[in-house]
Amino acid sequence: IKVYSDGADIDDMREVAKNKFVSGFTTNPSLMKKAGITDYMVFAKKVVSEFPHYSVSFEVFSNDQAGMLKEAELLHSLGKNVYVKIPVITTDGKSTASLIKKLSEKGVSLNVTAIAMIDQVKETVAAFAPGTTNIVSIFVGRVADTGADPTEFVQQSVDIVKKHPEANLLWASTREVLNIFQAQKMGVDIITVPPTIIKKLTNVGKTAQQVSLGTVLGFEKDIKASGLKIL
Ligand code: E4P
Repeated sequence: IKVYSDGADIDDMREVAKNKFVSGFTTNPSLMKKAGITDYMVFAKKVVSEFPHYSVSFEVFSNDQAGMLKEAELLHSLGKNVYVKIPVITTDGKSTASLIKKLSEKGVSLNVTAIAMIDQVKETVAAFAPGTTNIVSIFVGRVADTGADPTEFVQQSVDIVKKHPEANLLWASTREVLNIFQAQKMGVDIITVPPTIIKKLTNVGKTAQQVSLGTVLGFEKDIKASGLKIL
């Protein structure tokens, strides 16, 4: 499985890039707001120039086809490693499949985002032009946030995407380290992981005993640091 880093903080990106297993970055409007980006294009150009050998995904901001098309072409022009994120629906719930088809036919590499159901996966892969390379981002964590088990959705997505050479399946909305192993086991191509979770990968392989001991050592450290006393 390929591991991307999910976030828009340039310092985090530089830090995360020290891990050789990270081969790409994904951003979205909420992550950009959180990172305090003030100029989209300045940020995007900086990312492309600092990480020319990484897959980088930037999302359009418009909600209408004409606006999305213009923004997509501009983002695409930034570099060969750029995937333009197009939400699978607009805010009125309408499918963007026709725009996806149009952009794909123009040779724009796409990352179709905000996918939460299998019909959206089917419609998306059907819209990709032959010979192109694209990403299909399924929001697994957001589905799980509703209390629904996303396993079947992921497995069906894997089965569909496997039949389409233009498409790579990306597990988005990663919530915990375990998701990386789940995604790998199920045959997902890529998982995008927030830097906070990438840091937790140092825990991989720890024994249950080490987990337990690490927990009480952490409590002890914080008791000392807090200066608190019971007696
Ligand atoms: C990545 O491409 C997605 O935008 C991201 O993983 C969404 O994460 P969230 O659902 O935790 O906001």
